[in-house]
Amino acid sequence: MNVLGLNAFHGDASAALFADGQLVAAIEEERLNRIKHWAGFPNLAAAACLNGTDRNEIEHVAISRNPFAHLGRKVLYAAARPASWQRSLSRVANLAQVARLSADRPGTILSELKRARVHKVEHHRAHLASAFFASPFEEAAVVSIDGFGDYSSVQWGVGRGNRIDLLGSVLFPHSLGILYTAFTQFLGFPKYGDEYKMMGLAAYGVPRFAPQIRQIVRTEAGNTRLDLNYFTHHSQGVKMTWDGCEPTSGNVFSRKMLEVFGDPRAPRTEITARHADVAASVQAVLEENYFALLNHVYHRTGQKALCLAGGVALNCAANGKIFEQTPFRDIYIQPAASDAGTSIGAALSVWHERLNRPRSFVMRHAYYGPEYSDREIHAELETAGVAYRRLSEAELVDTTAAQIAAGKVVGWFQGRMEFGPRALGNRSILADPRRNDMKDLLNSRIKHREHFRPFCPSILAEAVSDFFETSYPSPFMVTAYRIKGDRLRDIPAVTHADGTGRLQTVDREFNPLYWKLIRRFGDITGVPVLLNTSFNENEPIVQTPAQALDCFLRTRMDVLAIGPYMLLKSENPPGGRASARAGLQSREVAAL
Ligand SMILES: [Fe+2]
Repeated sequence: MNVLGLNAFHGDASAALFADGQLVAAIEEERLNRIKHWAGFPNLAAAACLNGTDRNEIEHVAISRNPFAHLGRKVLYAAARPASWQRSLSRVANLAQVARLSADRPGTILSELKRARVHKVEHHRAHLASAFFASPFEEAAVVSIDGFGDYSSVQWGVGRGNRIDLLGSVLFPHSLGILYTAFTQFLGFPKYGDEYKMMGLAAYGVPRFAPQIRQIVRTEAGNTRLDLNYFTHHSQGVKMTWDGCEPTSGNVFSRKMLEVFGDPRAPRTEITARHADVAASVQAVLEENYFALLNHVYHRTGQKALCLAGGVALNCAANGKIFEQTPFRDIYIQPAASDAGTSIGAALSVWHERLNRPRSFVMRHAYYGPEYSDREIHAELETAGVAYRRLSEAELVDTTAAQIAAGKVVGWFQGRMEFGPRALGNRSILADPRRNDMKDLLNSRIKHREHFRPFCPSILAEAVSDFFETSYPSPFMVTAYRIKGDRLRDIPAVTHADGTGRLQTVDREFNPLYWKLIRRFGDITGVPVLLNTSFNENEPIVQTPAQALDCFLRTRMDVLAIGPYMLLKSENPPGGRASARAGLQSREVAAL
C-alpha cells in the first residue's frame, strides 16, 4: 500500500512516498523549482517521488495541515479582535487553499490520483509523527516545537509502538520560535529561515541582555508565555514577501522592542559587539526555556529517550546541551526536522494512527532524493564539452582525498540527494578542516557567507570520541558538541567561536563511499574529518548533474567529483567553452 505525504502551502513544501510503511523517496520542492523555502503546492516534488509508480496505486495522500484544527479557538480569537480582520484575510485564504485540497483538485497532481483518499494531519501531529515513528525507539517522549503551525507552537507527549498520546501543547500567540524569529529580524536577518545566522552570531557575544529578555518570555510547567507587547504577529499577522528567489517574513517585533533594545540593525550593515551580545542573550534565554520544557516533559513522561522535531529543534547549539541539561539518555532528531519533514510525518501518522499498521521503518539516513546514473552524468559532461576523466572507485577516493589534503576545494556529487536542509556527503562541497584560512577561502571563492557562520565537520563515527567531548551519534548535523581542548588546533576550520562543532558522524553502513573518502583523508593526514558544506553558491542545494556542473564552472571550486568522473578547474578554465554553456544553463535555471 502506498501513502504519499505532502507539506503543502507551508514553508519548505515537500513530498514523501511510503510503500508498505517504508520510505521510498522524499524531496523538497525548492530543489526542483529552485526557489528557496518554496511555500506553494509541491507538484514537482510529488511527481519526482511518484516517478515509476502507477498513479492508480496511490491509495492515500496525507497532507501535513489541518485548517480545522483548533477552529473554535481561532474563531474566538478573531472575534475578540475585529480590527485585525482585514489583516487576517491572507491567512484565511491560505487555510482555504489547504481545506480545498482533495483527490480531484485540478491543477495539482492530486487530480491524477484517482483512487487516493486525502487525509489532513495537523501540522504538529505530523512533526511528532516524523520524530517518533521514524525513530528507532519503541517508546519515547516526543516534542514538536516551532514558530507556528495550525495554531500551535509546541505539542508534546509519549510515543508507544504505533501510537502517540498527546499530553501538552502551547497555542497561538505564544511561541519560542516567534521569540527567536523576532530577534533574528531585529538583528537585520529578514529572510525566512535566517534563524541559524543569529545562532551562529551568538557564539561571539556575551549574554548581557538576558535579564531583559527573560522579562519577555517564560516557560513553566510546559507552558510558554510571551509578553505580547514586544510582538506584532498576533495583531498584524505575518506577511510573507518574495525577494527574487528568497522569501522574507514581515517583522514580528513591535516598537516596544526598540525602546528596550535600541535601534534594530539594518540588513547588510556592520555587525557590532552589541548585536553579538543580543544574539548571545536570546540564545541563552531560548536554551533556558527549551530545557525547562524538556525537563517538564521528562518528569511527566518518565521516558529516557527523546524525539524532537520542528524548526526550534534545529537549534544545534541547544541540542548539544540536552544531555547536560536534562536527564534524557537517548535522542533522535530526524534529518528533516524542519517543516519539510512533515510530509514524512503526515504519511507516517496516516499509516500508523489511521490505518493501524505496525512500526517497521527507521530513518537512519537522509538519502531519499533523486539520483543519476553514470550514463546520465556522462551525457551531461559531453553536452557541456568539459574536460573530465573516469576513475575507479578506489582512484576516485584516493585522488579526491589527496586533492583535499593539498588544500583544494572539491564539489562532491554522489548517489541520492539528501532530504532535509543539510548536505550530508552526497551533495557537498568538501575541504581541509586543518587549515586556518579555509573558512575565509571558501567564503571568498564560493559561499559568500557572513564571517560569523561556522562550517561543519563530517567525522568517521568511530573517531568521534577522539575529537569531541560527547560521542553520542549525530548523523544529521543537528547537534553541536564541544571539541576536545587538545584537538582544537587540529580542525580550526570547523571549530566555532565557542569551541564547538556541528558534526555529522558518518557511519560506514549508511554512506560507504563518503566513509571511505574520510577514512582515506585520515590515512593521509591523521585527521579523519572533512569540512562539509552544502553544494551550492547562493541557491537551493544543487540537485542535478547540470546544476552541479554549472556551480563548479561559475565558482572558484578546484575539483568536481561527480559520480565516477573527475573534473579539474585547471583543465576547465573560466571563460572556456563549457563556462559559456554554464552561463546559459544558469540563466535557464533562473527562468524556471
Ligand atoms: Fe513547523
